[in-house]
Amino acid sequence: MRPPRPARPDEAPALAALAEETFRATFGAANTRADLDLHCARAYGPAQQAAELADPALLTLVVTEGEALVAYAQLRLGAAAPACVRGARPAELCRLYALPSLHGRGAGPALLTAGLTAAAARGAGVVWLGVWEHNPRARHFYARAGFVEVGAHTFWLGTDPQRDLILQRPAPAEETPSDPKHPA
Ligand SMILES: CC(C)(COP(=O)(O)OP(=O)(O)OC[C@H]1O[C@@H](n2cnc3c(N)ncnc32)[C@H](O)[C@@H]1OP(=O)(O)O)[C@@H](O)C(=O)NCCC(=O)NCCS
Repeated sequence: MRPPRPARPDEAPALAALAEETFRATFGAANTRADLDLHCARAYGPAQQAAELADPALLTLVVTEGEALVAYAQLRLGAAAPACVRGARPAELCRLYALPSLHGRGAGPALLTAGLTAAAARGAGVVWLGVWEHNPRARHFYARAGFVEVGAHTFWLGTDPQRDLILQRPAPAEETPSDPKHPA
């Protein structure tokens, strides 16, 4: 497993495949096939991810194993945040997903650290994200890294309105590790 790095434009098809696979692996058991299909058709595909990789407001970081993409994170800079988010120049950690075989092996913490560091380097004072209320592993992971709940919003998974908790934490100062278990 290699450290996180920015995705290359030619990796859009591989990123699309990873994004869909990890989304289905994370939420497949708790949602209908129809809602998952609808969401995946809208959100993932080589054209969608190529557009994301070309978007200067989005930073996509990937972790690879051999030639394969196995985990990724996306950071959105310069966009408006929900009103409950407090702090200067918010950045959104809009996606963070690892293949299930990578869970507990450091890819998630490495991507989180890299995303927080990148946000700070680009001037963000605070990083926020939405996490499904019924995603206990991710909620524990973010709490461990210093995120606190500040509100909630609706995330539409296909036709299903779901409650996402909004979490935020300060962008890291240089000497502050983002995750006490996996310092930068
Ligand atoms: C979120 C994610 C990137 C974190 O990476 P990871 O490698 O799993 O992270 P870690 O193993 O370092 O940390 C997970 C923590 O959750 C804990 N955990 C696992 N299952 C849990 C559960 N059901 N309830 C509460 N905590 C749980 C683990 O024990 C670990 O905590 P600990 O090290 O303090 O004991 C990864 O789990 C993932 O890709 N999940 C699927 C996608 C996802 O949910 N993304 C977030 C969308 S907002």
